[in-house]
Amino acid sequence: MLPTVTAHTGLELPVIGFGTYRLTGDEGADAVARAIDAGYTLLDTAVGYENEGAVGAAVRRSSVPRESLIVSSKLPGRHHAYAEAIATIEESVFRSGLDYLDLYLIHWPNPKEGRYVEAWEALIAARDRGLVRDIGVCNFLPEHLDALDERTGVLPAVNQIELHPYFPQAEQLAFDAARGILTQAWSPLGRGNDLLSQPAIAAVASAHGATPGQVVLAWAVARGAIPLPKAASDERQRENLAAADIALTDAEVAAITALGRADGRLARQDPAVYQEF
Ligand SMILES: NC(=O)c1ccc[n+]([C@@H]2O[C@H](COP(=O)([O-])OP(=O)(O)OC[C@H]3O[C@@H](n4cnc5c(N)ncnc54)[C@H](OP(=O)(O)O)[C@@H]3O)[C@@H](O)[C@H]2O)c1
Repeated sequence: MLPTVTAHTGLELPVIGFGTYRLTGDEGADAVARAIDAGYTLLDTAVGYENEGAVGAAVRRSSVPRESLIVSSKLPGRHHAYAEAIATIEESVFRSGLDYLDLYLIHWPNPKEGRYVEAWEALIAARDRGLVRDIGVCNFLPEHLDALDERTGVLPAVNQIELHPYFPQAEQLAFDAARGILTQAWSPLGRGNDLLSQPAIAAVASAHGATPGQVVLAWAVARGAIPLPKAASDERQRENLAAADIALTDAEVAAITALGRADGRLARQDPAVYQEF
């Protein structure tokens, strides 16, 4: 069992979750089922990944009790209008084949459209109806979170953001933590790019007898974020989960954080201007 952290809403999440982007169809369901067998309990899907069905199938087939798993999905930007958002959440539940989802997130704020507060009101209603157990957001900046608070008085349980050593997100992490919002890290491995060959990471990896991927995940956990690594193979799924056992020193955390840079986003997706539908 992984250690857990708790949001201001009482939602309890493991310190590492499982990313499912690109795990679709039968093969995807098989990969998610293997992840559950390996010990992952937090499963991150989205309408946009076209795999809520695969994730739901894996959960239904698993011998792990439903109440021990946390299935999380996301509302796409094209459905921020209230009635569309409600129908989209209902469709997510239908597609998953589950009675409810544990967590539902707004995928992007899309601030130029300016309807994310309306979408948030729909998520609040869905939570009140029991369609979803808790609610949150992704890619929200402080100004977007303040707008939710001012206009609804309800703060998200979770803010899922791009976070890896090239983009450490110190300010957003502190902003979320001060409000009891759990920060989840997307693309925590930098999508397996050159990040994992950085000498600073290799040095920490060899000191701990760990892999570079494990060190990057342990770094996220040490900073208070919940990484959501995606991995198809058994070997990498288990390798990534075992990162929870690695305790880095403050100096090691600082050395990895020093790889951060202002333009460190992987694909220039700055939520202040980038929109996704
Ligand atoms: N909210 C958002 O806007 C948003 C955006 C992007 C992603 N996400 C979520 O975050 C999850 C993770 O992000 P991501 O999938 O973009 O990237 P990621 O988890 O950083 O990287 C995944 C890639 O790294 C490889 N990999 C896995 N474990 C590894 C290891 N130990 N060593 C080396 N390479 C390894 C995987 O390959 P194999 O699978 O072949 O092993 C895959 O190619 C997504 O799946 C999704 O659930 C959310």
